[in-house]
Amino acid sequence: MTPPDETQRRKADHLRICLDEDVQFDQTTNGLERYRFTHSCLPELDYGEIDLSTTFLGKKLGAPLLISSMTGGTEAARQINYRLAEVAQRYGFAMGVGSQRVAVEQAQTAATFAVRSVAPDVLLFANLGAVQLNYRYGVEECLKVIDMLEADALILHLNPLQECVQTRGDTNFRGLLAKIARLCQQLPVPVIAKEVGNGISSAMAQQLIEAGVGAIDVAGAGGTSWARVESERAEDARQRRLGETFANWGLPTAECVTAIRSLSATIPLIASGGLRNGLEVAKVLALGADLAGLAWPFLQAAHESVPALQELAEVLLAEVATVLFCTGHATLAALKHSAALQPLHR
Ligand SMILES: Cc1cc2nc3c(=O)[nH]c(=O)nc-3n(C[C@H](O)[C@H](O)[C@H](O)COP(=O)(O)O)c2cc1C
Repeated sequence: MTPPDETQRRKADHLRICLDEDVQFDQTTNGLERYRFTHSCLPELDYGEIDLSTTFLGKKLGAPLLISSMTGGTEAARQINYRLAEVAQRYGFAMGVGSQRVAVEQAQTAATFAVRSVAPDVLLFANLGAVQLNYRYGVEECLKVIDMLEADALILHLNPLQECVQTRGDTNFRGLLAKIARLCQQLPVPVIAKEVGNGISSAMAQQLIEAGVGAIDVAGAGGTSWARVESERAEDARQRRLGETFANWGLPTAECVTAIRSLSATIPLIASGGLRNGLEVAKVLALGADLAGLAWPFLQAAHESVPALQELAEVLLAEVATVLFCTGHATLAALKHSAALQPLHR
């Protein structure tokens, strides 16, 4: 077991490294550059009537946007979580918090995650690493982190590459699928299976759906590279090299979304990993995702201020609305699977 202090230190390192260092994929892309919307020169729409509202896991959202799971456990993380939650509440975005393992190990840090007071209406996701189910975590710990947030769902993140590169990572992934399946039966809220930036294939998605997960977040390649983040914090040259070798490893977000959507027309699907503007958000929605998640861009803005976050929210919404307008779609439902998005043949 990792000592509690180390869990907290690791969360602080992750924030610092993601804010200060260049830890994005630099060769693998999110794959969305391979698609283009067909422009409509006569949309026959009034821009002011475009509706971005949607529903996910039974809850109404102002827009199909998710502030992806990032942080908690330290004072700096608390400030970031509260800023994110304030903006999620204002715009009707969904929000995840970072892994709550530190709060299970050190109860006094629970308040750094507990944003429900400022986000009473937000679709809120608790978070734990699935691998912890092999390190003495079970239904009790899951219920604890759900209660901490009054969460609407529990994200179990799947991060085998990150654990390989992390010094003293938790690398026993044996038997996890059966444990996830059992939790899906036992918990009062849906379980969301999520990667952290290396993607989920359709074969893995099939198994997770059969296990009973309520949603999938592909968290594909093309954005923040966790191999690179862990390489930055490596304690020796071997771990550092390992992280750099695998810095571009993974399935691009666009590929995950198309593959999983053709496998299942109905599984609630979140696209994330390397989404950096509203045009990319609109592309993943047109490919069949129900929600689009961004982590790194929200982190940068949250580090700055609440007004910076509001500016980011406004520009993302304007970009998505502009795609709808310039493709002649009044609603997200019309955009979904729209023939207006075409693969480029190069
Ligand atoms: C600072 C930071 C901390 C993160 N911590 C977690 C975490 O605790 N749990 C998790 O599921 N994902 C975590 N992630 C991964 C993100 O949720 C997301 O899947 C990944 O960064 C890819 O999205 P992006 O390219 O928009 O950053 C973290 C991301 C960042 C930037």
